[in-house]
Amino acid sequence: MLVTTQIQQARKVLLHARSIAVLTGAGVSAESGIPTFRTNGGYWQTHRFEDLATPEGFARNPKLVWEFYEERRRAMAAAKPNAGHLALVELEKRVRTFTLVTQNIDGLHDAAGSRNVNKLHGDIWIVRCLDCGKEREDRTKFEILPPKCECGGMLRPAVVWFGEMLPEGSIERATGAVARADVFLVVGTSARVFPAAGLIPIAIAAKVKVIEINPEVTDFSSEVDFMLKGPSAEILPALL
Ligand code: OAD
Repeated sequence: MLVTTQIQQARKVLLHARSIAVLTGAGVSAESGIPTFRTNGGYWQTHRFEDLATPEGFARNPKLVWEFYEERRRAMAAAKPNAGHLALVELEKRVRTFTLVTQNIDGLHDAAGSRNVNKLHGDIWIVRCLDCGKEREDRTKFEILPPKCECGGMLRPAVVWFGEMLPEGSIERATGAVARADVFLVVGTSARVFPAAGLIPIAIAAKVKVIEINPEVTDFSSEVDFMLKGPSAEILPALL
């Protein structure tokens, strides 16, 4: 009941917005069957991120890292966008200025039909050669790990690991869009990884209306304008 009232109020705010920015995290893909990182058996509860998501871990054991990513690539290839991803596509059509920033590497926003997705943490479907530096999209199942580039160099997934820089200009573009927005939607992120999580205090300081959607509270929940507690595949369509 409380959530329903809050959704109605948040909907009004959204209806009047001319510029909307959105930040998504692993939770938006949870209902597509993709595990999150920090909740409910998420990856970092059973795996060491130091081994699997750092350049040092990759240098130590590229095969192990690739096994982890190849398993995730297969799970993601089988996944379909859910009602939450689709609601964001609909929202983009309704508003004059719309920016979608994601920490997800799964490509499900693209698959749903979102345009110009700002992928802060890269893209699991792009591979990069450590020798020639060439990047290309590759969705095939790699049988031999680590896979090789045609130049003979070792390939890595073009994702951002801990300790690495974000894609050039991505956080600057996201910051600008968030600070200029009327409404900032924060969906399915634990808001624990920076600089992505830093977009939330930027929005709050700029007096942008912040709507958070998450079944669990985060460190920012008490500061946002609306905390809509629940799964995004239910709350996002209801909000629209
Ligand atoms: P986390 O796993 O840290 O957080 C997922 C969030 O989604 C949690 O707050 C959950 O409560 C919420 N959640 C779970 N199910 C949901 C649902 N059905 N609908 C909405 N929300 C739901 O994932 P991120 O915040 O995305 O980076 O993590 C950020 C980064 O940390 C990732 O991009 C990844 C990870 O390490 C790298 O690998 C560099």
